[in-house]
Amino acid sequence: PSRVRIPHLARAKAEGRHFAMLTAYDCQIASIFDEAGIEVLLVGDSAASTMMGASSTLPITMEEMIVFARSVVAGTKRALVVCDMPFGSYEVSVEQAVANGIRLLKEAGVHAVKLEGGARYAPHVEAMTAAGVPVMGHIGFTPQSEHVLGGYRIQGRGEAAQVMIDDALALQDAGSFCVLMEMVPTEAARAVDAALRVPTIGIGAGPVTTGQVLVWQDMLGLGSGRNPRFVKKYAELRPLITSAAAAYLHDVHAGTFPGPEHGFE
Ligand code: KIV
Ligand code: NA
Repeated sequence: PSRVRIPHLARAKAEGRHFAMLTAYDCQIASIFDEAGIEVLLVGDSAASTMMGASSTLPITMEEMIVFARSVVAGTKRALVVCDMPFGSYEVSVEQAVANGIRLLKEAGVHAVKLEGGARYAPHVEAMTAAGVPVMGHIGFTPQSEHVLGGYRIQGRGEAAQVMIDDALALQDAGSFCVLMEMVPTEAARAVDAALRVPTIGIGAGPVTTGQVLVWQDMLGLGSGRNPRFVKKYAELRPLITSAAAAYLHDVHAGTFPGPEHGFE
C-alpha cells in the first residue's frame, strides 16, 4: 500500500470516514503500528514524559525530537509521520518557526509538523506552509502552555468555544492541513469540526472529529500512573512485561536458563 498523504486525510473528512493516529517514538513500535494500518504516527513532545521521565513536555529539545523522529520514520512504510515542534522552537518568530520546521523535515524526514496555539500562530503557519512544511494545528488544552492555563484543564467551555472556532479558522486560513483538539467538550469540538473544511483530530474531544489520537503507552497499558478519562486501554503491557522479567529472573537464579538448546557445542 502506498504512503498516506495529506489529501487522504482530507478525503476521509469529505467522505465521512474516520482515521487513527497514535504517538510513536521509535522504529520498532512505529513499524508495528504501520503494519497494523494506523494512518498517522505522531512523534509527540510527550516523548519528554513517556521516553525521558520528565513531568511535562516543556524540556524536550529540537535535537532530542530529531532523534526520536528519525527512528519513527525509519520504521514506517505507509503511515504519514507528523512531528511536534517542541516548546521554544517556534514561538519567538516566524523565521524561527520556518527554520525549525524545515529542520524536522530535512534532518528527521517527517512529512509534517504540529505546533500548539491558535490565531497568534497564523503568520507562522502561513510562512511554514509556503516554505514546504505542512502544519497541523493544536488547540484546546495545549500542554506547552500549562503554566499559563493553570494546569491540565478542559478548554473551550461556554464563551471560549467561539474563540476556539476562530482560532481553528485562522489556522485553516493560514494553510493548516488539519486541526487537533485536546480536552474540549464534545459540543465545542463538533462546532469546530463543522466550521472547518480541513479534517480535525481529537483527544478527549468526543467522537465528532475526523481523526482520533492516543499516546501509545497509555492505550497499551505500559505506564504505571493513572490514565486520564479519555484514554481507552486496549492492552495491559506493563503486567505482561513484569511477569516475563520475573520469569527470566527466576530462571537465571535457578540456573534453568540458559538450557542446552541456547548454547553452542
Ligand atoms: O505530544 C503528544 O503526544 C500530543 C498528543 C497527545 C496530541 O501532542
Ligand atoms: Na504534543
